[in-house]
Amino acid sequence: MIRKQKQEQLDELANLILEDNPTPQLKAQATQLVFGSGNPDADVVFIGEAPGKNEDLKGEPFVGAAGKFLDEMLDSVQLKRSDIYITNIVKYRPPNNRDPLPQEKAAFWPYLLKQIAIIQPKIIATLGRHSGSAFLQDLTISRDHGQPKKLRVVLDGKEETIVVLPLYHPAAALYNGSLRETLLEDFQIVSRIISNEL
Ligand code: URA
Repeated sequence: MIRKQKQEQLDELANLILEDNPTPQLKAQATQLVFGSGNPDADVVFIGEAPGKNEDLKGEPFVGAAGKFLDEMLDSVQLKRSDIYITNIVKYRPPNNRDPLPQEKAAFWPYLLKQIAIIQPKIIATLGRHSGSAFLQDLTISRDHGQPKKLRVVLDGKEETIVVLPLYHPAAALYNGSLRETLLEDFQIVSRIISNEL
């Protein structure tokens, strides 16, 4: 029941983005909105940067090579996509996969906070520098990855504490053995936080 209510709220939020059209230029060049997918009752919300080509075509985040790798990482801590929720800071594919512009990230920020307010996860795991630094302004990914940080944010008009765990982007670790090991270790932290061990 609760789950259905959250899914309905998320659907309404996706429709609101379509109506408000916060980034008309991105929308005009993209195939579709990539709002987010997974379990609306998840304890962990993963947040990437922006959809790529595969995501744009399919309408779901992390369905390409980085997504396959993400599935491996999830599998290493006995998690499935249906246990987690996943989205991006920017919800339309930037042309030619360029980095999202600061104004594009800013345009989606209030909707992202609303998405988090609906799901109420225990932890937000950011994937990559762009996503991490949207939450933690002085982030240095090589120094801060794998270390949960508490943050005060206003969610739905109420000031609340959220826990943000910055992680490397799976695409960065795809062909880098040592980053891969680091990411595997950091996923253990995700698992320990959601099972209340940390
Ligand atoms: N990289 C991202 O940051 N997000 C996606 O959805 C896919 C690749």
